[in-house]
Amino acid sequence: MKKNHYKQFWKLGREEYNTQFFDINEDGNLMVKEGNYQYDVYELLKKYGSPLEVALPSILENRVRNLIDIFDAYIKLYGYKGKFYYHYAMKVNQNKAFVLPVVAEGGHFDVASVNELWIVKRMLEQQRFNPKIRVICNGPKTEQYIALIEELRAKGLTIIPIIEDYQELERLKSFKGETGIRLNMSIRVKSHWDKRFNRYGFREDEILKLGKIKNLSILHYHISSQIEKVDGLVAPFKRALYIYEKLREKNPNLDTIDIGGGAGVPYEKKGKFYSGKSAINRIVKTAKSYCEKKGIRHPNIIAEWGRYVAAPAQLTLYKVLTEKTVDEGGKRKWYVIDGSFMNDLLDTWALRQKWHVTPVNNMKTRKLQKVWFAGSSCDSDDKYTAGGSDISMPRLDDLENGENQYIAFYDTGAYQDPLASHHCLLSSPAKVLCQNGETRLVRRRETSEEVGKEFGW
Ligand SMILES: Cc1ncc(COP(=O)(O)O)c(C=O)c1O
Repeated sequence: MKKNHYKQFWKLGREEYNTQFFDINEDGNLMVKEGNYQYDVYELLKKYGSPLEVALPSILENRVRNLIDIFDAYIKLYGYKGKFYYHYAMKVNQNKAFVLPVVAEGGHFDVASVNELWIVKRMLEQQRFNPKIRVICNGPKTEQYIALIEELRAKGLTIIPIIEDYQELERLKSFKGETGIRLNMSIRVKSHWDKRFNRYGFREDEILKLGKIKNLSILHYHISSQIEKVDGLVAPFKRALYIYEKLREKNPNLDTIDIGGGAGVPYEKKGKFYSGKSAINRIVKTAKSYCEKKGIRHPNIIAEWGRYVAAPAQLTLYKVLTEKTVDEGGKRKWYVIDGSFMNDLLDTWALRQKWHVTPVNNMKTRKLQKVWFAGSSCDSDDKYTAGGSDISMPRLDDLENGENQYIAFYDTGAYQDPLASHHCLLSSPAKVLCQNGETRLVRRRETSEEVGKEFGW
C-alpha cells in the first residue's frame, strides 16, 4: 500500500475531520505537524512514558484565529454593523497550555465559577493581558464570586456578570458595570442535553416581564453542546433576535447577543459534519436579514464555543498492556490499556462519547484485528467499544521483540481534564506540551504518595 493509503485508512490529513495536522512517517509512526516543525508521537512516548496527554497549542491557536477571521469576513461581506467577540469558555479546559494561546489569538473569557475567575485575577496581577480584555461571568453566583467580580471591575477590568435568576437580579442592582441576562430558551435542539427541564436563566415569558434591567448590555443563552446540525445553531439565534428586539424596547443599551457554546466537532470522522464556516455564514446572514427587516440595531455577536476550539488540540495516548478474547470464537479481542476511560476520558462513560482512535506505531501494518478497549480500573463500565462496533488495530503478535503497541485517542482537549478522577487510585496521565518545535512536560505523572495524599494518606 502507498503511504497515502495508510493516511486515508486512518483518516489523517483531512481538514473536514480536523486531522490535517497529523501524518504518518517513514517508520509508520504517528506525526504531528506544527507548520514546518514535526513531532514523532512514538518518540514522545519513549521519552515521557504512558499514559500521556499531548497538548497542541498550535492547533488551538489556529482554530481561534480562524473562528475570529471567519466571523469578521462574513460581517464585512454582508455589511453587518455589529462586531464579533470570541469568549473562550474556560470550563472546557483551564490548563495554562490552553488558556494562554487563546489570549494570544485575541480571545476574551467566559468563566463559570469563582475559581475560574481567580485565574483571570492571577493573569491580571501578572500583567499577562491587555486590560481591555472582556470577561463574562456565567453560572450561579455565590457571594464570594460576586465579590471577586466587583473587585476586578474596580481594578478596571471589563467584567460582565450574566444574571441567572431573581436573586442575582436583586443583588446585582448595586453593580456599577454592564450586565447581561440569561435566557432559558423554549427551543430545543438535537444534541446531548436535558431537553425537558432546562434550569438555566429566565424563561421567555419571565424575561419579557422584567422591564428595565440595570445596565443591561448582553442577552445570553446557551442551549447545548455538540449540536449536531447547523439549524440547531441558527434556530435558537433567530429566537434570541426576537427576544433582543423586545427587550430593547425598555433597555435601549442592550447591544449584544451572546450565543453561548454548542458548535460541534466531527469526533467520529465519518460522513459529513458541518464546518465552522458554514455555521458562521448562516449566523451572520440571519442576524443581518432579521435586523434589516425589523429596522433594529445590528447586535454585536459573542460566541463562547469551547469544544470547537479546544477538542482537536489534544491527544490522549495509552499502551496496550495485554489482550484477551471478547467472545468464544475469539474473533474480537479486548485490548487492555494502561489507563482508564472512566478517569481520563470520562465522557466515554458519561455520554457514550465516540472517539477517533488510531495506533501510534505500526500504522503501516496490514495485519489488523477487531478490538474493543478495556480500561485498567476494576469497573466493568471502564471500556471503549465505539458503541459496540469494531475497531481495527494492529495485531500484537506482529510486534517486534520488546516493542509495545501504543494507541492515540483524538479530540480529547475539551472537558476531559476538568472531569478527570482517580477511580482505583490510578494516576492521571502525564501531560506534555508541543510548541515551537520543542516538547515540555507540564504535568508529571503522579506518584503513589501524591495520589494517596489527596485521600488523606
Ligand atoms: C454558558 C456556557 N457557555 C459556553 C459553553 C461551552 O460549550 P461548548 O463547549 O459546547 O461550546 C458552555 C458549556 O457547558 C456553557 O455552559
